[in-house]
Amino acid sequence: MRATITAIAHSVPPTVYDNHWFAERIDTTDEWIRTRTGIIERHFATEGGVTDILLPAAEAALKQRGITPLDVDCIIVATVTPDRIFPASAAILQHKLGATNAWGFDLAAACSGFLYSLITASKLVESGAVRNVLLCSGDKMSAILDFDDRATSVLFGDGGGCVLIEPSADDNLGIMDFILRMDGAGEVHLHQKAGGSLRPPSLETVTNREHYVYQEGQAVFKAAVKGMADVSYEIMERNHLTADDVAWLIPHQANLRIIDATAERMGLSKEKVMVNIDRYGNTTAGTIPICLSELYQQRKIKKGDYLVLSSFGAGYTWGSILLRWSMEDAPMEEVS
Ligand code: UT7
Repeated sequence: MRATITAIAHSVPPTVYDNHWFAERIDTTDEWIRTRTGIIERHFATEGGVTDILLPAAEAALKQRGITPLDVDCIIVATVTPDRIFPASAAILQHKLGATNAWGFDLAAACSGFLYSLITASKLVESGAVRNVLLCSGDKMSAILDFDDRATSVLFGDGGGCVLIEPSADDNLGIMDFILRMDGAGEVHLHQKAGGSLRPPSLETVTNREHYVYQEGQAVFKAAVKGMADVSYEIMERNHLTADDVAWLIPHQANLRIIDATAERMGLSKEKVMVNIDRYGNTTAGTIPICLSELYQQRKIKKGDYLVLSSFGAGYTWGSILLRWSMEDAPMEEVS
């Protein structure tokens, strides 16, 4: 049995913050942010937690598939900004959805959260352990951004997407192959200093501004360029695909220069690379499902298309997935 995506939707909070908003507050410019990252604007939630961001996408995905929350067997929430450290945001989302027959859990793989949980979900489905998994992947990065730090605050946004994973009706369509990697040596370059069991919250951690994203940009940049390009090329090569065979590269949206380097390594032209970093920034676990959902809504992916999804992020975690799209075109009422 092969698992596949049978429904997809995304959601972002309504409020948009453009680069000028930052330039008015901290020592940065629209020009620096655009040219170094590709970001023009991003969405930040003004209230609620990550489950509030994901809930509309979860409801839309179930509606699209024509099933109710009671039909969901398992919920995975991929995030590094859970509503609370415990209970799992999967439980909170289950309650908000009314998916009372579902069990579930959270998965923390940062920017690779969608890829890690897509493979976890697909293996649960392929083993027959569950009939379906509602996979919700996204982050409320504004909750852990230091808005006084120009090196990190301008990079991220809030948002996420949800997919339903079920057995594929056709063995030649669905999740075909994956490469997932991890290197914990990357922890020093990208982490949140306090708030966990190693360094619990205290007056000192708050005063020292330790509850925010800490990133050594250049070190992560170098590792990301190599990591993402390597696995994206490798998955193509070991499945005997050429650039002509691949319809879309759907990369994690951290930096346009990392995306370009990955596409170049794969020999893909720009028209085959999904980019929306300009509108959303880096939504961590949200980037890839938002990209996929937008492509679906725009009817730009066709049944049978080969898609390469790839990511790199904190951990380090990185990877690529080869997907053969199995859904029919979005109905006209869902086209945006
Ligand atoms: O998704 C998780 C994984 N994360 C990533 O993949 C991110 C990887 N890293 C990056 O995308 C890039 O390293 C950044 C976008 C974070 C930074 O770009 P960079 O080209 O590597 O810049 P830099 O850190 O080398 O900084 C260059 C200069 C510095 O000034 P000096 O020392 O040359 O005077 C920074 O202080 O740019 C300065 N700078 C800024 N200037 C204006 C850093 N941030 C800003 C800013 N506005 N927001």
